[in-house]
This record gives sequence, C-alpha cells and structure tokens, in this order.
Amino acid sequence: MASSDFARLPGFRDFPPEEMALRTHVFEAWRRVARRYGFQEYDGPPLEALELYVEKSGEEIVGQLYNFTDKGHREVALRPEMTPSLARILGERSRALPKPIRWFSTPQLFRYERQQRGRLREHFQWNVDIVGEAGVAADAEVLAVALDGLRELGLGPDDVRARVSDRRLLAALMRSAGVADDRLTAAYAVVDKVERETRERSRGRLMAEAGLDATGADAILDLFDAPGLDAVRERFGDREEVAEALTRFDEYLATLEGLGLGSFVDFDLTIVRGLAYYTGIVFEVFDARGELRAVCGGGRYDRLLELVGGEPLPAVGFGMGDVVLTELLRDLDRLPDVSRSVDWFVVVIGDDLRPRALDVARRLRDRGESVAYSLRSHAVRKQFKAAESEGARRVLVLAPDEAARDEAVVRDMATGEERTVSLASLDVD
Ligand code: HAM
Repeated sequence: MASSDFARLPGFRDFPPEEMALRTHVFEAWRRVARRYGFQEYDGPPLEALELYVEKSGEEIVGQLYNFTDKGHREVALRPEMTPSLARILGERSRALPKPIRWFSTPQLFRYERQQRGRLREHFQWNVDIVGEAGVAADAEVLAVALDGLRELGLGPDDVRARVSDRRLLAALMRSAGVADDRLTAAYAVVDKVERETRERSRGRLMAEAGLDATGADAILDLFDAPGLDAVRERFGDREEVAEALTRFDEYLATLEGLGLGSFVDFDLTIVRGLAYYTGIVFEVFDARGELRAVCGGGRYDRLLELVGGEPLPAVGFGMGDVVLTELLRDLDRLPDVSRSVDWFVVVIGDDLRPRALDVARRLRDRGESVAYSLRSHAVRKQFKAAESEGARRVLVLAPDEAARDEAVVRDMATGEERTVSLASLDVD
C-alpha cells in the first residue's frame, strides 16, 4: 500500500519538531500569563456525552460535532469547546471551592468545520475562566489575561484589537426597537452577521426572524452606522435599562485602563458571539489589519452552570485558538527561531576514550545541560559535522594527549574560540 493511502485526515495537523516547538512556545506563554494572574490549570476528557452540547452551545457548534454512538450505546461527542465541560466539572465540585474560582486549560478541540484559512477540524484553545464573581472587575480581568497572553508573544495594540460589547446593552436596544424577549436570540444571530451581509439582507432577516416591522429593523440597523458608545448614549441613554448597561460598561473600560490595557480595546456593538450561553459583556480579539478570523472570543455566561445542573454561579471567560494566533505571529514575523540546538556535543578521538565521553555527558546532563555525541565511532570531521547539524553551542573534544592530563578542549561554535578545561571540574564559565 502506498504511503499516500494513509494521508492525514483533512483539517488535522501533524506536529513535527519545528511545529511542535512553536506550539510549545505559544503554550508556555499562555501558561506563564495564566499563572501570573493566579489561575490554576485543569483538564477534562476529550469525549463527553452528546447531550452536554445540545442546546447549551447553540446550533452552530452542534452542527459541527464529531459525534457517534459508542459500543455501550451511549451518544457521545468529541469536545468542540471546553466551556460545557468546565460547567460540568464545577457542577460536581464548586460548592467545596473558595470563590472566585480561577481555572485555565489548553484542550484540543474538534469541530467538523468547512476547512478555510484559520479554521481546521481540530485546534488547541487556551481557556481562561473566572467562576463565582458577577462584577465587571472579573470581566476586565479575563480580557486582561487574554491581552497579556498576546503581549507575552510580542503583540501590541497596533497588532491586535479587542472588540467588546455587552449583550445586556444590545438586548436593551433591541427591546426599545420592538424585539420581543423570545426573539432576542434570533436578532443576535442577525447582528452577528451584520458586517458580512448587505443591509437589505439584514433588514429582511430582522423582519422575518426577529419579528420587527420596517421601522424597528431600520432603527436597529442605524445603530451600526455610527456604533460608538457616545452615539448610543446620546440616542438611547435616557432609557433606564440602557443607562444601567452603559454605566457598567464605563466601569469595565475604566478597569482595563487601570490595568494599562485600554489602548487595545474598541467598543463594537456588532460583537454578539455565536454561542448561545452568553449573558453579558462579550468580546473578540482580531488582528488589527482585519485579515484573519478571530484569535480569541469570550464573555460572561451567568446561567450555564445552572443549566448543566450545578450551583447557580456567575461566570466569565474566553477561548484563544492556536491556529489563527500562530498564523498571525508568522505573518508579523514574531515567531522565535526554533531550529534544533543542544548545549554540548562531545567529540571523541579514539574508541579508548568513549567511556570518558559517556562520563562527561552524564555529568553535564546531571547539571541540566543538553548533550549529544555520535552514537557510533566516526572520523573527527564527521563528528564536527554532526555537532553542527545538532546546533551544538559548544563542542568538547576528548583527545588522547589532553585526556592524559585530565583535560579537554572546548570550542565555542559561534565564535570559534577554544579553551582548555579540566575534566574533573568541567568548568567553562
Ligand atoms: P469560540 O469563539 O467558539 O469560543 O472559539 C474561540 C477561539 O477558538 C476562536 O476565536 C478561534 O480562534 C478558535 N477556534 C474556534 N474554532 C476553531 C477552528 N475550527 N479552527 C481553528 N480555531 C478555532 C469558544 O469556544 C468558547 N467556549 C470560549 C469561552 C470560554 N467562552 C467562555 N469561556
């Protein structure tokens, strides 16, 4: 059978060492930042009961599930997102935990999506959530984690923009335009696509799906012509529900300013998020040039824990995907050099010295340094070639004359500088 008969499934990735090194680079930045904010790491199973996603996540994700019946006749699905698992896990244990709960995870997720740039059928997603705190300080804190995660990877406000909104504010505006409560979700779905569809199409959908008359539909669409906070305040600020949402939003923005991250943030009423469970402030982070899909999305979901049968707890969090993020870092040339490297390569002249080479390697490795050497005897020139292809920073040459004096020559491969070191101490610095 030809090897092409075993081609990788579409939308899935291999991670040979160079790709794996980049993945590790991103993951390590995510972990450092989450810990800096006092978050603890958790995980759950990649396979869950299908029911966990039906209704909780919303139609879009349910249509993309990798689901099947297992051998025990259970309806199961590969996890397409982490939030329902988090809600389930906390449902069993939140009562015993001090609040707020600050947890993060980096799961691999699976969605049967139509493959396109930035969208695959598996991705890794940094999930950061605060559970048990209803105030806007928690909303600001999670966005701060996301933005600091991006800063940690070398991205600034000229590279990425956080677009933030509040479903409560949008709901208040929708109601004042005549949308009934049970049509709000349908209206959100139209707003979610308002940037990608013509005004005519959005208008038609607001009338057909959200039950608005022509005047109501136009009132909503006018909001997106001048969608700044000031415009909303001016036109609708006298309505109590809107005013309340605006006050909350001002505090949110002021907290982000206080955390030194205000320069990343834009108010944007078109951000509603595709998932069904969001209830408050929502946000997405995009590349500033607007060329890629969202790097990150999240928001407040105060009802989800209760919906999966747990303690009713307010919650807020986000998911940041590795696919778009790595593409962006590559486009902006912010990925590190991940070519292979070792601290030492031991070159042995003469098989008699091999036992001493093994001893040197062992002692350097015990110090935490990485060491390689040729696994069979080779000419010196070939060993130096191998040292180069391993990316060795230093080569230690074990030759009979020096070894007789308990010494070896160490060459710095970048400068070519050589010095003699004692084999007893192996002291080079
Ligand atoms: P989401 O918007 O579905 O949110 O996904 C978050 C991010 O994951 C996206 O912005 C994108 O970068 C990445 N992503 C999603 N699907 C794919 C895909 N098929 N291929 C590549 N990357 C993808 C959630 O999943 C929420 N559960 C996040 C959350 C956590 N909300 C609260 N806590």
